Amino acid sequence: MGRSWGWARWHLLERILTGAIVLPKYLTVCLVVSPRKAHRFFWSLGHHVLAYEHTHTQARIPAQPIEGMFPGIERVEVTLADASWEDGNVSMVELYLLCAIARHQRIRSALEIGTFRGLVMASLARNTEPDTRLLTVDLRQEDLGRLRRPLALGEALYVQKAKIGEKIANLPEELRSRVTQLYGDSTQLDFSPYYGRIDLVFIDGSHQYDYVAHDSQEAFRMRSPQGMIIWQDYLVWPDVTRYLNRLSREHPLVRVAGTSLVLYRPS
Ligand SMILES: C[S@@+](CC[C@H](N)C(=O)[O-])C[C@H]1O[C@@H](n2cnc3c(N)ncnc32)[C@H](O)[C@@H]1O
Repeated sequence: MGRSWGWARWHLLERILTGAIVLPKYLTVCLVVSPRKAHRFFWSLGHHVLAYEHTHTQARIPAQPIEGMFPGIERVEVTLADASWEDGNVSMVELYLLCAIARHQRIRSALEIGTFRGLVMASLARNTEPDTRLLTVDLRQEDLGRLRRPLALGEALYVQKAKIGEKIANLPEELRSRVTQLYGDSTQLDFSPYYGRIDLVFIDGSHQYDYVAHDSQEAFRMRSPQGMIIWQDYLVWPDVTRYLNRLSREHPLVRVAGTSLVLYRPS
């Protein structure tokens, strides 16, 4: 024990010394030779420091391994056919787990806020029963000018895309026909036709506090008696973290270990 602690200390010291020698050299070269590289370096350093601070100081919701939440889920078979990742998507692990949960729970309906390229909905279509109804909502570029409150900083980038739900459009007809795409600002759409009817509500629209709060309140109204709600981006987008930490005082929320997914399920 004493020996490994000693080694760990030497290792840390060596890293600090190496950093102290290499970093100023690297930065001097970068600033002179390539200011863009230096700018990228500082930007990414700032981003990592903030992300570290956020992850290590804001986590309030307990994490559980997925197999503890859904016993037997490890035996569920999932297909991720035609899945490909790009910035803005859930991670491939999160996608896999969302599909596994949907299969394990044999959901008959799901509604997503934040279609983007349609990755989640197209994958749910491939992993649910032929009578499962799937709905997904997204904002069109032209809706940006009609918003009642601003989106989170940098978020308009994900609204400005050539096509909403291209992955859904590429599905074979028998799967595509099960997915309904709705368009508009989630805070201005009428979700009342779905109240009490949705087995899985997935929230991944705007990450600004008021939108997250609104979408979550509607999700509680839409979920069926046994219905679940899943949020993405806990400990990623600060307002999502803040809102869910607050919500966890009223509801038993659980984070899926190793992911940014938070789940509500009635007990
Ligand atoms: C991060 S992307 C969602 C990614 C998607 N769930 C996936 O992994 O495939 C967020 C999406 O929410 C949409 N969005 C942002 N604000 C919205 C709002 N107020 N109402 C509806 N959709 C919104 C954006 O247009 C964007 O496509």
